[in-house]
Amino acid sequence: MKCQVHSKPKACIIGWPVAHSRSPLIHRFWLERLKIEGSYERAAVAPTGFPAFVRDLARQGFAGANVTLPHKQMAFEVCDIKTETAAYLRAVNTLWIEAGKLCGDNTDAAAFVGALDQDAPGWDINSRKAVVIGAGGAARAIVYALKLRGMRRIFLINRTKERAAELASDFGATTEVVDFPDLPGALAGANLLVNTTSLGMRGQPPLAIDLAPLPPDAVVSDIVYVPLETSVILAARARGLRAVSGIGMLLHQAVPGFERWFGVKPCVTPELRGMVEADIAAAA
Ligand code: ATR
Repeated sequence: MKCQVHSKPKACIIGWPVAHSRSPLIHRFWLERLKIEGSYERAAVAPTGFPAFVRDLARQGFAGANVTLPHKQMAFEVCDIKTETAAYLRAVNTLWIEAGKLCGDNTDAAAFVGALDQDAPGWDINSRKAVVIGAGGAARAIVYALKLRGMRRIFLINRTKERAAELASDFGATTEVVDFPDLPGALAGANLLVNTTSLGMRGQPPLAIDLAPLPPDAVVSDIVYVPLETSVILAARARGLRAVSGIGMLLHQAVPGFERWFGVKPCVTPELRGMVEADIAAAA
C-alpha cells in the first residue's frame, strides 16, 4: 500500500518541541543520495493545534509526516485508517494520505527488530527468553515485536509495577512481571535484555543493573541513543556480550515513511549511520 507520489513531495516531523529531532537529517540524506526532488522539514505544533494541523496536511502540500512526542497517541486517534500494528500499539508515528484519508502506522516495532537483525544477526535463532525494562509506549512496541518474532517468554520489570502488570495482561501468557529483587534470576538464561526507559539518557541517572547473570551469548539492547553508548551498552561490551545501541532503531523507524512519501525504499547504510552518529557526538 503506497500513497500517491507527488512530483516534488514534501514531508515533515511533527513534535513539540521538535528542534532536537534527527529525522530531517536522515530523510534529507536519503533524498540527496537517491536524487529525489523532495523535501523534509520540522513542524513545531503544540498539542492543542495537532488535530487541525494533521487534518490539513494534504492542503499544506505534505505527502505525510512523522510524529514524535507528545503526539503519538493523538495521531492514533485522529487517523481515519490505521495499520494493524498501530491499532495494537494505540500509537502512530508515521502518517500519509491515501484517497483523501489520513492513514497511520507505527514503525517502532519493526524498527526495533530491524536494528537487531542488522547489528546482532541471528539474535533470534533460539528465542527463549527476553527481559524488558520499562512499561511505556516503547516497551509496548518492543514486546509486540518480540512476540511476533517468536520470543517464548518475556519478563517485564518497571519502576511502577502496575504499569508492567497492565502491559503484561495485554500480551497474555508469554509475558510476566518480575520484581527488582528477582531480576538476576530473570537474566539468567535470557537471550536478550532491552532497556526501553530513559535511564542512561544524557541528563538522566544511569540504568544501574548487574549484567553478570546473563549468559555469554546474550544480546543487550538499549533504545537510548544520546549518548551513543550508554553505560549499559559499554558494560555489555566489556563483558564480551553483543550490544545494540538505540541509533539503529532511530534509523530503521524512518524507512517505511520515506518509502510511502517518496516512492523508494531507502537503506540504512554505514554512511547514514556515521553521519547521524557524528551529529549526535557533536551536540554532546
Ligand atoms: P515511552 O513512551 O517513550 O516509553 P513513557 O511512557 O513515559 O515513555 O515510559 C517511560 C518508561 O521509563 C517507563 O517505564 C518509566 O517508568 P514508570 O512507568 O515507573 O514511570 C521509565 N522511567 C523513566 N524514568 C525513570 C526513572 N528515573 N527510573 C526508573 N524508570 C524510569
